[in-house]
Amino acid sequence: MSFLLNAWYVAAFADELNGATPLARTLLERPIVLYRDAKGQACALDDRCAHRFAPLSSGRVVDGVLESPSHGLRFDGSGRCVHNPHGDGRVPAQAQVRTYPVLERFGAIWFWPGDPQCADRARLAGFDFVDPATHFTHHGYLKTRAHYQLSADNLLDLSHFQFLHPDTLGSEAIARSDVQAGSLGETVWVRRSVFKETLQPFVANGFGVPAGSCVDRWMDVKWTPPGLLTIVVGVTAEGTPRESGRIAPSAHWLTPETARTTHYFFAFGLPTAMGDAGRELVRYAVEGLMRPFEREDLPMLEAQQARIGDTDFWDARPALLPIDRGAIRARRIMEGLITAEREGRAPGNAGEGHDRRTIGIRSAFEVS
Ligand code: FES
Ligand SMILES: [Fe+2]
Repeated sequence: MSFLLNAWYVAAFADELNGATPLARTLLERPIVLYRDAKGQACALDDRCAHRFAPLSSGRVVDGVLESPSHGLRFDGSGRCVHNPHGDGRVPAQAQVRTYPVLERFGAIWFWPGDPQCADRARLAGFDFVDPATHFTHHGYLKTRAHYQLSADNLLDLSHFQFLHPDTLGSEAIARSDVQAGSLGETVWVRRSVFKETLQPFVANGFGVPAGSCVDRWMDVKWTPPGLLTIVVGVTAEGTPRESGRIAPSAHWLTPETARTTHYFFAFGLPTAMGDAGRELVRYAVEGLMRPFEREDLPMLEAQQARIGDTDFWDARPALLPIDRGAIRARRIMEGLITAEREGRAPGNAGEGHDRRTIGIRSAFEVS
């Protein structure tokens, strides 16, 4: 299984890292240890001590450096051994652990598994609406035993709401939606408009519309490599313009753990200017969605993965529908990027062509 290496991936939520305990996480089939140094900067290292290969994540953070659990060598955020408690204390030259470029943005710790020279922070997609400095945010996490691209397919095709989430997110009107899909550079978008819809109570409550009333709902999905999605949902009174209703933007970040397992990070954010109502709404959204995500999406994705096993997606010959257009475009873009990277073409240019504009809080993805 090959992954795109020259790209930013979410390794953890920022609040998962404290100053005392290292965090072990397998990312793109690599055991990684994450911790904060004495300045609070997040660091990512191979989770393998340079001495006799103990998992550094089983050690502890001492004065901002990572102490191996086995014989106490200590490594700083550059991977250099800075302390040897044995004998004369000399440090052998090869006492060095591989490190990875790290960024802390949008409430998350991002890591770059590829060539460190290419790790440009300007290549990080924009998710300002979950920036904790300016927004109330709330987040959730699920480990999914399925390929990350299956999760992306699921998020790029929200027609599944009607059948998989009939009691929470779905309605009979969804299959009659107007759906448009397209791409700009390496960005894929899918815009779905549902008309004359009666929402389930969970969604109606979240958007502050009376239960049983007839509304229009729109759902815009934007995808950028390697698996970073923004979904904006808006609800308006029937027949009124998009701008007139309330919206709920959410971030969905897919990081491969292995070829068949995925870290699924998601977060909602609303401007702090909304006051307590915004704080409450993002909590309501995440806590309410955990149930259908955990009980419906996750088992379905895992069952799909189990059915196709190790068979390549295309070799399984999926019978594609127009609703798959966005997901297929995203797959083709990833295949192109991975192939180019493997063949050494356009090295380090995986992020070029991203539509980096963060969503306008009213108009979602104007990509023309
Ligand atoms: S294995 Fe880490 S100090 Fe020996
Ligand atoms: Fe779902």
